[in-house]
Amino acid sequence: MCGIIGYIGEKNCVPILLNGLKRLEYRGYDSAGLALINNGTASVIKNKGKVSLLQEKVDSLNLSAKLGIGHTRWATHGVPNEINAHPHHNHKKNLFVIHNGIIENYQTLREGLRQMGYSFLSETDSEVLPHLIDSFLQKGFDLFKAVRLALSEVEGTYGIAVIYEGEPNKIVAARKGSPLIVGVGENENFVASDVSAILAHTKQVAYLEDGELVEIYKDKFITKTISDTEIAKEVHEISMTLDQIDKGGYPHFMLKEIMEQPDSVTNSLRGRILFKKGTAKLGGLESVTEQLTNSKRIIISACGTSWHSGLVGEYMLEQFARIPTEVEYASEFRYRNPIITPEDTVFFISQSGETADTLAALREAKIRGALVLGICNVVGSSIARGSMAGVYIHAGPEIGVASTKAFTSQLIVLALITLLIARKKHLSLIDGKSIAEELKNIPQKIEEILKLNSHIEMIAEQFKDAKNFLYLGRGYNFPVALEGALKLKEISYIHAEGYPAAEMKHGPIALIDENMPVVFIAPKDSTYEKIVSNIEEIKARKGRIIAIASQSDNEIDKLVDYTIKVPDTIRMLMPILTVIPLQLLAYHIAVKKGLNVDQPRNLAKSVTVE
Ligand code: F6R
Repeated sequence: MCGIIGYIGEKNCVPILLNGLKRLEYRGYDSAGLALINNGTASVIKNKGKVSLLQEKVDSLNLSAKLGIGHTRWATHGVPNEINAHPHHNHKKNLFVIHNGIIENYQTLREGLRQMGYSFLSETDSEVLPHLIDSFLQKGFDLFKAVRLALSEVEGTYGIAVIYEGEPNKIVAARKGSPLIVGVGENENFVASDVSAILAHTKQVAYLEDGELVEIYKDKFITKTISDTEIAKEVHEISMTLDQIDKGGYPHFMLKEIMEQPDSVTNSLRGRILFKKGTAKLGGLESVTEQLTNSKRIIISACGTSWHSGLVGEYMLEQFARIPTEVEYASEFRYRNPIITPEDTVFFISQSGETADTLAALREAKIRGALVLGICNVVGSSIARGSMAGVYIHAGPEIGVASTKAFTSQLIVLALITLLIARKKHLSLIDGKSIAEELKNIPQKIEEILKLNSHIEMIAEQFKDAKNFLYLGRGYNFPVALEGALKLKEISYIHAEGYPAAEMKHGPIALIDENMPVVFIAPKDSTYEKIVSNIEEIKARKGRIIAIASQSDNEIDKLVDYTIKVPDTIRMLMPILTVIPLQLLAYHIAVKKGLNVDQPRNLAKSVTVE
């Protein structure tokens, strides 16, 4: 997500900050900026787009300073542009703040500040911070106290760094729910959201904990709690090397993104479940909730992995919202003169928000008068902007070409939309509450599955030389079979097909012999017995079987060659769990084949051409 770096010392910090921002690029970003204080005078430079563009701007200004902060932004509130980019400042432009995280009560804070005479330039939640801190400076507090008092009014998450012309010998930083470290150097100190930003300069770091603030000078740093108690901080030596860090210590972005899923899913859920009411709150759909709930039909249109999540969405919406739902490949939809009426709602799902086919289908649906809604990851992307309303999945930047965490976050958002509509229609409070509770437990359950990584790697070793794979599942897990097969073929170049398990007997069973591995997605649900019959059919033909099964299922081990056990949840959420082992299986097979998992041949992250 967003990245933070700050420097105070004897050197010119401009190249240090820019290089640090480049090191944070692996996180993905859409704009960047610096604030500097040189001989008591502050300056701020921001730019939409790459750090290299910011660098060009900075180079043309010939800037130098010994105190500064820098930020890469991944938009959450407000489109990516220069005004919304960080650092944000107070009205006198002498106090600068960079912020990672989300200020949940920013509207209330903004209103209060407006009444005090403050005005706002950006659409961001973050901009309340410089004004709030400023309001305490005006009351005579020093910078550190002003930051501490301001943060005690903030609800949400933050990692922040603040500099102020009036106290040009320090950076004040604080953390709650968004990582922050202090880098300790010789007559220079750093602050960063991630070691990668400062590793070129120091390996000595102190980790801030939630609820801690730090005052960083060039030769010391003082840490306090938000309730003003000083705490001694241990300084650790990092063993990481520079070439490891771009991927946050992981060998590939894909693995990093798979492993991030407990967090990305948490971010997709944050603030969106109303537990007492057993429903969901989706700010982006508020203006259209009634029209959506009363739709005669829902169409979901997307490509690739996003299309697979749409298929799961169809099962969810039909089961709980009881609205007829169809899922269309965007590329087909746009060319086949679809029947769409103003009583239809069409959802467009896209991680990048830039997929050409999806965008063209969206334009077509709009022309035909449907309610057009977006489910996107990239804030301010063309599909997000082109939709009448929508929901961001907040999965964070996805860099590996094979989509992983975006898929699970799309499913979370589809489940929330289903819950929202279903509760407005037939779903009881008790049933709504139990879905809400299960949603809350998903990140923890993903965490448990990720612990099976080395077991899955061992299974990958057994199957890495297979030439074909079959993935079978039923109901909610049929789209997971398609997604598992897609993951494998796109990064390992092994031919793989996904099928509804019961369809096997209508053709694919002819392929089965000892050389055909079959992956069954077979959790204990209402189709379990039928899946077991399919497993027996494969066994009888000497097929090798991997089963994704329920933790509570001890019988299946006797029937199949390998099992990967996942925790139980309600059926509609099961795909969020069963897909994780399939992502890891594809990943490990591709790695064992020596392939470029992050940039598979012939594929691009965002398909902006037809
Ligand atoms: C598969 C994959 C692609 C994308 C597809 C749609 O791993 O990444 O199939 O899902 O190109 O992309 P978005 O979601 O950006 O519209």
